[in-house]
This record gives sequence, C-alpha cells and structure tokens, in this order.
Amino acid sequence: GIKVVTIGGGSSYTPELIEGFIKRYHELPVRELWLVDIEEGREKLEVIGALAKRMVEEAGVPMEIKVTLDRREALMGADFVTTQLRVGLLDARIKDERIPLSHRVLGQETNGAGGFFKGLRTIPVILDIIRDIEELCPEAWLINFTNPAGMITEAVLRHTDFKRFIGLCNVPLGMHMGLSQLLDVDPERLRVDFAGLNHMVFGLNFYLDGRDIRGKAMDALQRPDAHISMANIMAEPWDPDFIRGLDVMPCPYLRYYWKHGDMLEKDLKNFENNGTRAEVVKELERELFELYRDPKLKTKPKQLEERGGAYYSDAACELISSIYNDRGDIQVVNTHNRGAVANLPYDCAVEVSSVITKEGPRPLTVGELPEEVIGIVRQIKTFERLTADAAVSGDRVKALTALNVNPLIPSDRVGRIILEEMLTSHREYLPNF
Ligand code: G6P
Ligand code: MN
Repeated sequence: GIKVVTIGGGSSYTPELIEGFIKRYHELPVRELWLVDIEEGREKLEVIGALAKRMVEEAGVPMEIKVTLDRREALMGADFVTTQLRVGLLDARIKDERIPLSHRVLGQETNGAGGFFKGLRTIPVILDIIRDIEELCPEAWLINFTNPAGMITEAVLRHTDFKRFIGLCNVPLGMHMGLSQLLDVDPERLRVDFAGLNHMVFGLNFYLDGRDIRGKAMDALQRPDAHISMANIMAEPWDPDFIRGLDVMPCPYLRYYWKHGDMLEKDLKNFENNGTRAEVVKELERELFELYRDPKLKTKPKQLEERGGAYYSDAACELISSIYNDRGDIQVVNTHNRGAVANLPYDCAVEVSSVITKEGPRPLTVGELPEEVIGIVRQIKTFERLTADAAVSGDRVKALTALNVNPLIPSDRVGRIILEEMLTSHREYLPNF
C-alpha cells in the first residue's frame, strides 16, 4: 500500500484532498495518510483528522488516517509527501496584503511585495523538509502546493540536489475548465498546451478530440462572457482586441499586471473596509471549521468551493496517480525547464504541460513564448531567482534588489520602505535576516 504524508494537514483544504484520495482508491490505494502540523495548528489538525476519519469510514475505504505533530516520525518510509503549509498562518498573509496596501502598493498573496515576503518565509521551511526527506524517505516524491509555488520550485532547483520535487497549482486546471465551459464541450475532449511560470502561465495550443481548434478557442476568449477567473481574483473581462493581439490565453493572475490600476483601486477599497482577501479567507476558514467540527459532517462541505483552490485535489491526486501508475498522460506542473520553453533559461523552473510517468514529469517542448508575453515572463523569472537567493542567504541587498525589479513596486524609495517595514513585522518567521 501507499503511504502519503501531508505537511500542513490541518489546512481547511485537506477535506478536498481526502475526497480526491477516496474517489481514486481503486487506482491509487493509499493505505496510510499521515496529517502533520505544528503546535500552533494542533486544534485545527485534530478537527481535520476526525473529519478525515469520518469521511473514509463513510466511503468504506480502508485508508488509515494518522495525525501527528512529529514530522520526522511521519516521513519515515513515505512514498509521497505533499506540502500545503502556511508559514506564520493567515495572520502573516494579512500583513503581506495590508502593509503594501497601506503604501498604496498592490498587496497580494503570491505577487509583488506580498508574494516576495511569502517566498522569504516559506523557502527555508521547504528546504528543511527536503533535508528530512533526503534522510528519512529519499525515494519519496514531494508534491508542493505551498505558495509561492514558482519561487519555491526555483529555490529547490537552485539550492538543492533533490530531484523528486514537483510544484503544483490549480490555475491551469481552472483555465482548462473555464475554456471548456466557454466552448460548451466536455473538458475531457479538450487539450490545452500550457507554458510560462506559476501564476503567469499561458494557454498556447488548443485541440478538440485531437483536432487543432486554435482559431475557435481564441474567438471564444474574446466573447463578452469570457471572464475566466479564480474565486480569489476579480473576474474583470479583458479587452477582446488585446486577447486577439496576444493570441494566447493569459492566466487570471495576469490581471495584476495588465489591469494593475483597476485591481489596485479595488483592493484599496477593500483594504479601507478591512476586507482584504486574507481577511475574507480568515472568516471563511472560521465558518468552515465550525462545519468541520460537526460530528454529523461526513463529506466535503459545499462552502469549501468559495476558496481559490477549486480543483486542487484533482490536480494533486491525478499527479500522484500518474506517477504511481506510470500513466504517461499530460499534466501541468512546475518543474525544470530543460529547454521546453526555448526563450527561458535552460535551468529555470517553469509551469508547463508535461508527460507524467513513474520517472516524474518530462516537459513538452513548446518552443518560444511569443514576443508579446516573454518580456514580463523574463522579468518575473528574474524576480523569482533573486528572491530564492535572498531567502537562502538572508542578504538584504539581494532582497531589496529582488523586490525592486518586480514591476508591481512603483519606486525604489517605496520598495525600501516596504522592505524594512515587512522585515520587522515578519521577523519571527525570517531567521535568515
Ligand atoms: C488559487 C491559487 C492558489 C491560491 C488560491 C488562493 O487557487 O492557485 O495558489 O492559494 O487561489 O485562494 P484563497 O481562497 O486562499 O484566496
Ligand atoms: Mn496557485
């Protein structure tokens, strides 16, 4: 049987994952699922553990749920490790969003200054987990959903020799589902080739039952009802001619760059009303945990769909299943470029459609990203690399440089102010600084 270890097991998202494993038990027999968390998360972990046990019992699946605060004990002999932790919990995310906004700068979980600080806090923790895996279960695959997934994958490539790391995000799946709805076709019939970076990915090629439908897909994306987004991002439609000009499908997060003024304005309003996304999520989580505590609840509640993580368990379980079953299907993951995207560095982390086998992901060769988008992608790649290096070294000059090359930071003067304020505010989670 398979042993899976989920670090950050007390997350409100965990019931998704449990549901995903239950649905696939016939092809992916997970015999032991270990949910690991830290002392601060003990209470949540217990609630999630009890719910998970009710869910597997209700489904009649012989999956054993183990709950522990001892990460090293859990990792012993694991086949798959998934990471979904949040360093500093939601209170740190609230700061990531509120501090930049207090300087009238975009405050977002994975982009700009907020994403940068999330990277600084999280990268050392993931590298620490990798050291434990190398010692205790070196054959295990590490599937990381922890954000910022792109920066973390970059850091793992640059600063470890660990090869069994895969970064995962639900955005490509959300785009795939959104486009299939727009085209009114079964998602299984549609194939989209994706490439780019995490939260900066593009749909490049489109096929229906194997036939090229690029023209049809691009036309549909210019329709007034084409506002594909995620629950956490304002679904403002794009200018249809802009989409025509790009000639690729942009991911919803590109709105933070290409609708920057509009997104900032809206977020500033929410900030003034104490309603940044992090604060909305905190309230949602409180409500979710109230439901989770109910001993009568034995399945994933509907309310979980209000979170941005829709389809995340499908992405995770499909990936694990394809590795386990050596399936050779195509899924979108964050991995080592190796020339797949010709106009990005050979060695960098990319989010790209990849063939998944028991050897892990092998990226599809997609050629060059078009001129229209490669500029911003390169700039963000530089930002990710500098952030990864700053997180590991604790070098303040590197940190300031990383932050200021990000196009969402309006000036080096403001960048400095935000850097100092956030370094102070997050210091307990930044031991390298
Ligand atoms: C999307 C992203 C995730 C992110 C989530 C935020 O799903 O792909 O990386 O964590 O949105 O959703 P939330 O409900 O926490 O704002
Ligand atoms: Mn994501």
